[in-house]
Amino acid sequence: VSVATEDIPVRMPSYECQRITALKHHNHRFTTALELLEEHAGYQGGGQRADSRARGFRRASCTLKSLSHPLTSIEQAGKLPNIGPHSLAVIKDILEDGYSQEVQDICDGDFYNTMQLFTGIFGIGCSTARKWYEKGFRTLDDIRNDSTITLRKDQKIGLELYQDLNTPVTLAEANIIQELVKAEVQRLQPGATVVLTGGFRRGKTEGHDVDLLISHPTEGKETGLLSAVLARLRRKNLLAYESTTANTYDPSTVTKKEYTLDHFERCFSIFKFDKSWISSKPTSQSPPGVVKPGTSNPDLPHQGDRVSLGTAGGSDGESTAEKAWVGRRVDLIIAPASQYAYALVGWTGSKYFNRSARLYAEREMNMKLTSHVLYDPVKNQYLSASSEEDVFRHLQLPYREPTERNC
Ligand code: CTP
Ligand code: MN
Ligand code: MN
Ligand code: MN
Repeated sequence: VSVATEDIPVRMPSYECQRITALKHHNHRFTTALELLEEHAGYQGGGQRADSRARGFRRASCTLKSLSHPLTSIEQAGKLPNIGPHSLAVIKDILEDGYSQEVQDICDGDFYNTMQLFTGIFGIGCSTARKWYEKGFRTLDDIRNDSTITLRKDQKIGLELYQDLNTPVTLAEANIIQELVKAEVQRLQPGATVVLTGGFRRGKTEGHDVDLLISHPTEGKETGLLSAVLARLRRKNLLAYESTTANTYDPSTVTKKEYTLDHFERCFSIFKFDKSWISSKPTSQSPPGVVKPGTSNPDLPHQGDRVSLGTAGGSDGESTAEKAWVGRRVDLIIAPASQYAYALVGWTGSKYFNRSARLYAEREMNMKLTSHVLYDPVKNQYLSASSEEDVFRHLQLPYREPTERNC
């Protein structure tokens, strides 16, 4: 007996963390539109309300990502969890017309495109971007040439390296940076670990940055490591920008709301990624700990193509066109051994997976999940975990591989 896929009853749990969400799925034509609406809603002012509108689109998108077949009827969409009326209307338009006029209008509009341009500047958030948009600014040169604008150090470098930082980081580049940092870290503290987290750990082959989680199996041996590593990188002239934040973790404040952000010692940085480190042959891996900046590795062909600055960007290439390196955003996070499993879950993401897991922990388990620990306020107990599996087990969730956490 054959049953049309749309007639199979879909039983989908409503928390994203209870489901499998892979990078590849069957409903990209809907999710692309919904996530554009999410992005657009996030650009709007209005704080909490704008945020919750944005999240509504994202939750609908996540539901369709978890669906095991292409959505073919609006009736079925109506039975799925977390799809609100606005998202449903957009899905209906796409089912009926093949596209959504609302999405098309946003894409064609000045607001969306300008906000995308300005929020692409490292250090610029939605509110500054919106302020500039409202003042009538539309291009990067409008910002560069306006004498009334004072930029912070990070924003200045964001403008300078705009082209670099808006060229996706490849997995090959991320692996090279991970190896480079690992070599430095282990020279300082043998046995220390450096793991590539973020989108790359979830199986993405491109990202906006490189997220490296640094730890040591012996609690305490991670202390002082970040500043020492940064000193070495600085001496080798590998850093274009760095901003370090000290550890502010205080377990006694774990129940406070602010814990959506974590409190690890960290550095938001921009690496000078030497173009000679990468070749067109994906198999040839340079030992980056050995390659000195400014000198070329004789084993590698000189190949700038893979990381070219992209001349298509028009007026933005002037000063950056000749430099031998490409700016790459790197986040370095230090986690003590006892918090490592939670830090790994937190920094692997996705952001929406974490959001959902924290909501689930709070509402369904009466517990507080952070990137540091899981806390049970009823038993006044901090639940220790030595692996990601432990974290899922404590939450009574089926284990999900990082590649299944792409909500
Ligand atoms: N994260 C976090 N606290 C921050 C910043 C990020 O816990 N202050 C988490 C995010 O929730 C995410 C992971 O760290 O799960 C990586 O963040 P980010 O680099 O922003 O996102 P990616 O998923 O790696 O996406 P991309 O590929 O664009 O870098
Ligand atoms: Mn609406
Ligand atoms: Mn990332
Ligand atoms: Mn990051």
